[in-house]
Amino acid sequence: MTTTGLPDSLIATLPGDHYTDPEIFRLEQEHIFESMWFCAARSSELSKPGAFRTVDVGRESVLLTRSRDGSVKAFFNVCRHRGAKLCTQESGEVKRAFQCPYHAWTYDLNGKLVAAPNLTKMPDIGRTEYGLASVAVREWLGYVWVCLAENPPPFEESVIADVVARLGDVESIERYDVESLEVGRRIVYDVRANWKLIIENFMECYHCATIHPELTEVLPEFADGYAAQFYVGHGAEFGTDVQGFTVDGSEGLDRIPGVTEEQDRRYYAITVRPQVFINLVPDHVIFHRMFPVAVDRTIVECDWLYLKGVVESGRDVSRSVELFDRVNRQDFDACERCQPAMSSRLYAKGGVLVPSEHHIGEFHDWVQDRLGTRANLAER
Ligand code: FES
Ligand code: FE
Repeated sequence: MTTTGLPDSLIATLPGDHYTDPEIFRLEQEHIFESMWFCAARSSELSKPGAFRTVDVGRESVLLTRSRDGSVKAFFNVCRHRGAKLCTQESGEVKRAFQCPYHAWTYDLNGKLVAAPNLTKMPDIGRTEYGLASVAVREWLGYVWVCLAENPPPFEESVIADVVARLGDVESIERYDVESLEVGRRIVYDVRANWKLIIENFMECYHCATIHPELTEVLPEFADGYAAQFYVGHGAEFGTDVQGFTVDGSEGLDRIPGVTEEQDRRYYAITVRPQVFINLVPDHVIFHRMFPVAVDRTIVECDWLYLKGVVESGRDVSRSVELFDRVNRQDFDACERCQPAMSSRLYAKGGVLVPSEHHIGEFHDWVQDRLGTRANLAER
């Protein structure tokens, strides 16, 4: 028996309130989503100067745009005058500036205050001082990552280190040239479940045999319940008769040139904390970003990325999209099935993790360490 009173083969999960308590969700927003690097958008959504996208990161709205020199900029989406939300659209394009709809303060693509009614009569207003407040921004793998922390942790020591810990090295993912792939399909899922249920589900394959008939057909080793991401750098092998990572195992599309023989006919899955899952297969990359919007609701944006030539040629990508779209729906249904029961009094102390799920315990420890709730739990 362990100190928790459970047999050695079992580990306790988080208590139910970690999935239902708005106060715990607030702590997660502050100490996780507003403190770590957060993958916000695909760089190609900001295809030219003035193109913009707004995203919610924790409790903040962030405005992403591209300036004239081609670099991506990120700002708090808050007017510096009286605090109106500057940009209310999710995406769009401005010619050369953002104008606040309230009193028309106007900011250029670098965030500088360039115009305001009667500005000449207000010489004390510093154009930079009252410009938009910048947010730290980086581009990697063709995505825009932002960090709202006052002192952002070095990207290499957080995001890159996380990938290395899971994949063994960063070259294994960079070989897929994710940056130059194109979005062949994007599907946005509105999942009525806490973000941690989605991560926990993604981390284990104990459920694969029960709910993923198509996936276990393509990746037979998933049927035994041990997920591919258990051990660093392991990729699950396609079944012998499987030609490609498609809903019916039929042939896939053009292989990404950098994929090695070792990586061919294999599927790799990586989670990058706190809100990204990446799946790598020889002819495409599936990139999930989660946006936790409430304690019991998470928006998931999922991109299917292919070689530029494949997307431009208009070739049919639907069989590969359909495989993981089905997997996603099967997974999110399972998460939505758990969410209501998280507030059952029966689940007040949580459930258990069986051996093939024990690595989820490490995720729970990480969450509690970030929130500072581990000590409180020990006292329960
Ligand atoms: Fe934006 Fe006044 S609040 S211009
Ligand atoms: Fe699954």
